[in-house]
Amino acid sequence: MNKMLQCLPFNWIQEIVNIAAEWIVVVDRDGKVLYMNESYCKFVDRDPDEVIGMDVQDVIENSRMHFVAKTGQAEVAEIHPIKNTEMVANRYPLFIDNELVGAVGTVMFRNAQDWLEYSKKVEPLIEELNYYKKRFEKELVSKYSFSQLIGSTPSFHAAKQLAEKVSASSSAILLFGESGTGKELFAHAIHDASPRRLFPFVRVNCASIPEHLLESELFGYDEGAFTGAKRGGKKGKFEIANRGTIFLDEIGDMSLNMQSKLLRVLQEKEIERVGGNSPISIDVRVIAATHRNLEDMVVLKEFRQDLYYRLNVIKVDIPPLRERIQDIPLIANALLKKLERKFHRHGIQISNEVFQILKSHHWPGNVRELENVIERCVNVLTGNVITPEQLPLYLYENPSNKILLNHDPSHYIKSDLKLTKSLKELIEETERNAVIQALVEANGNKIEAAKLLDISKSTFYEKIKYYNIHRNEIDEFIKN
Ligand SMILES: Nc1ncnc2c1ncn2[C@@H]1O[C@H](COP(=O)(O)OP(=O)(O)O)[C@@H](O)[C@H]1O
Ligand SMILES: [Mg+2]
Repeated sequence: MNKMLQCLPFNWIQEIVNIAAEWIVVVDRDGKVLYMNESYCKFVDRDPDEVIGMDVQDVIENSRMHFVAKTGQAEVAEIHPIKNTEMVANRYPLFIDNELVGAVGTVMFRNAQDWLEYSKKVEPLIEELNYYKKRFEKELVSKYSFSQLIGSTPSFHAAKQLAEKVSASSSAILLFGESGTGKELFAHAIHDASPRRLFPFVRVNCASIPEHLLESELFGYDEGAFTGAKRGGKKGKFEIANRGTIFLDEIGDMSLNMQSKLLRVLQEKEIERVGGNSPISIDVRVIAATHRNLEDMVVLKEFRQDLYYRLNVIKVDIPPLRERIQDIPLIANALLKKLERKFHRHGIQISNEVFQILKSHHWPGNVRELENVIERCVNVLTGNVITPEQLPLYLYENPSNKILLNHDPSHYIKSDLKLTKSLKELIEETERNAVIQALVEANGNKIEAAKLLDISKSTFYEKIKYYNIHRNEIDEFIKN
C-alpha cells in the first residue's frame, strides 16, 4: 500500500472519502455491499452496519452496481431514478492487481435540488456557448457583395469586373494589392457571387498563426494525434470550408514547408488530418491574397514556383488608393454613411477643402487608412460639416496640404525643390535614384543594395520592377 495512506488514521480516510465522494458505495463481484458511507445510508434510510453483506439491489433502488461488478464496464454520469427523484451516478469497476473484485459507486448530485442548483450555474454557460457557436457559424458567410466595392477608376473597375466574371468558376484566385486596398472585401464578394455562397466562407490569416499550429489549423487532427488533442479530433479549416470557399490571407507569409503541403491539397483535392491515416476528399475554392510580390519571392526561392502557378490561375490586381484618387469622394461618402449608422448620426457632410486634402495624400494605408481618418473626423465633429480641423494632425499639418489650405505665400515651405512636379512624382524620382545608386554602390548585388537602403529583399525587388530598372542601366553606371 502507498506509504502515505498508511500514515492516515482509518477514521481520517473515512472522512476524506465522505468529503471526496459525498455518497459512496462499494460492492463485491456478487453485488453484495462491502461499504456504504453514512450520508448515503441516511438517504436510503438504512443503518451503515445493517447494509454490509446485503444485496445492493435491496439497499439502493434501481441500482446497477451488480452489473458493473460483473461486466467490468464503467457507467459514468448516468441518470439514476430513486425515491421519486433523480441523481447522477458514476459506477466504476474495481480492479485490484488486475483482477475484477467488485465496483465502486459514487453520486454526483444527490437529488433534483442539487441537480437544479448545478444546472442553474451551467445553463448560462451553455447558452453563452450556443451564442458563440451561432455567431461563429454566422461569421462563416460572406459579409460583402460586389455592390459594396466602391470605385469607378478604370483600373479598379477592371479588377472588380474580372473578379465578378470569374466568381462562378472554381479556379483559384490570387488577389494582389497593398494592405488596406480591399483584398478581403473582394474575397467576400467573390464567394457571395458564386454558387458556393450557401456554403461556408472561411478565412485563414497565414501570417498570424504560428508555423507549428498552421497545419492542424488548416487540415485538422485526429484523436490522439498529440498530447492534448481533443477527443474525436478536430476539423481543419479546409474541412469546415467544404463546398464553400477558403480565403488564405497573407499567403506570402506561409513557410515553404506549409506551401508544399498546401500544393498537395490543391493537386489531390483531398486533405489528411494530422495524425490521421485516411485522406478526406474536399471540394473547396481557394482565394489567396498577398501584398507581397510573389514573383520576386519565387526568384528568391522564398515561394514555391509550382504553388505560385497553381494559385495564380486568375490574378486580380487591386490598385492602391493613390492611383485612384478620383474615387476618394465616392469611397469617403460611402464610408461616412457606414459610420453614420454605426454612431447613430445623420446628415454629416465633408467640405471641399477636406476632399482636396484627402485627394493630395499618399495613402500608404489605402482605404483602411481613409476609413480611420473619417471615423476620427466623425468622432470629434460637433456640427454637421467635416472641415480640415477635424482631420488628424498628420494630414492637417502636411506641408503640401498647407499650400492648399492657405494661399498666403509666406506659408509655403522653403526648400531647394522646384515645385514643378507633383509630390508623388518628386518622391518617386528620388526613390528611383536611390535604388539605382544603391545598386551601383553594391556593384549590382541586389541583396547588398537592399541592405544599404535598409529595406527587405522583396521590397527592393518590388521597387526594381516598379521603376523598371534594367541591368544594363546599372552596368553603364558601374562602368563609368
Ligand atoms: N472599394 C472599397 N469600397 C469600400 N470600402 C472598402 C473598399 N476597399 C476597402 N474597403 C474597406 O477598407 C477596409 C480594409 O479592407 P480589407 O479588405 O480588409 O483590405 P486588405 O485585406 O487588402 O488589407 C475594410 O473596412 C473595407 O470595408
Ligand atoms: Mg487583409
